[in-house]
Amino acid sequence: MNGTTSLNLSKAGEFEARVVSMLNEAALCLMTSLGHRSGLFDTMADLPPSTSKEIAEAAGLQERYVREWLAAMAVGGFVEQDPVKGTYTLPPEHTAILTRASGSENAAVYSQYIPQLGSVEEDVLACFRNGGGVPYERFVRFHELMAEDSGLSVLPALREWILPLVPGLIGQLETGIDVLDAGCGRGKALNLMAEWFPNSRFTGYELSEEAVAFARAEAEAAGHSNVTFEARDLTFFAEEAPRERFDFVTTFDAVHDQGSPLGLLRGIRRALKPGGAYLAQDIKGSSHVHLNRDHLFGPLLYTVSCMHCMPVSLAQGGEGLGTMWGREKAEDYFRKAGFRRIEVHELDHDPMNYYYVCRP
Ligand SMILES: C[S@@+](CC[C@H](N)C(=O)[O-])C[C@H]1O[C@@H](n2cnc3c(N)ncnc32)[C@H](O)[C@@H]1O
Repeated sequence: MNGTTSLNLSKAGEFEARVVSMLNEAALCLMTSLGHRSGLFDTMADLPPSTSKEIAEAAGLQERYVREWLAAMAVGGFVEQDPVKGTYTLPPEHTAILTRASGSENAAVYSQYIPQLGSVEEDVLACFRNGGGVPYERFVRFHELMAEDSGLSVLPALREWILPLVPGLIGQLETGIDVLDAGCGRGKALNLMAEWFPNSRFTGYELSEEAVAFARAEAEAAGHSNVTFEARDLTFFAEEAPRERFDFVTTFDAVHDQGSPLGLLRGIRRALKPGGAYLAQDIKGSSHVHLNRDHLFGPLLYTVSCMHCMPVSLAQGGEGLGTMWGREKAEDYFRKAGFRRIEVHELDHDPMNYYYVCRP
């Protein structure tokens, strides 16, 4: 510390308290992820006040670990403990946002990002020192988690809120059109649309062979003959995209972490038939840090950016735009790609994303 600067002790005390709170909340995040993945929240939701032994038995888990998890959750205020009876309860108000039964309200799903990001800390630290990026393969369970995430933000709202953002689209899908989802991951949105709209034809392009195999297996199991998935690197899509091939193109959270986001957008523009529309779900935020100070998920999203979205793009030799490239830059890129009419929508169910509808 500079000898002439005096500390504001109350400010220092407040910050220290905040750091302590951060450590506790971060620890609870790890426990929440374990509670979700192990099924403990779901099990507890169906149980009366129960001992660690009863909870472990009901969940099919090891009692010693369940007991320690319960202790963390009890002191963290996630579960309630009766110290006399030695029982634990997940209160209904917490059940409502921590269990699979709560559907799109299940915030426990997102807790999984923190341990996933932690698992690549060494790789990211090496990038701080040496540059470069971290390839997708280093992120264990990435596609599984991403599909679970978009299973909350996209699938339940797709028919009622998202597709109607393009007026007349549902009718066209019912009649039969050609649809592309670029960077489709495990293909959940496409498989759902393929089921709803048997007269339309759906195509998914995706870098990951593993995700494509998963999407194909689900399409096959469901007996869809109107959807195809192709493992394809879209970095050179600007030149490689088929001309005027699709009536409707979507990207769900799949532009900013590409090798070439602008190239992808130019390819989408080229692949659109005249009169077609492109719908992009992408992270809600400003391109300017100071305008994101009050963002509800600001620290989370810049962290996801620093430890995932930016390094996976850089690992492809890409631009490394980052999760928080923001609305201003997104609109600029859509325009550069040749889209002249750009609408920006916000949907109540999804506070993390904008929905852009772009037309030539
Ligand atoms: C954040 S995930 C979104 C996945 C999916 N749209 C969803 O909502 O579940 C971004 C996707 O873009 C894909 N991707 C990244 N770079 C790509 C590239 N160069 N070519 C094709 N796909 C790419 C990733 O593999 C990943 O599946």
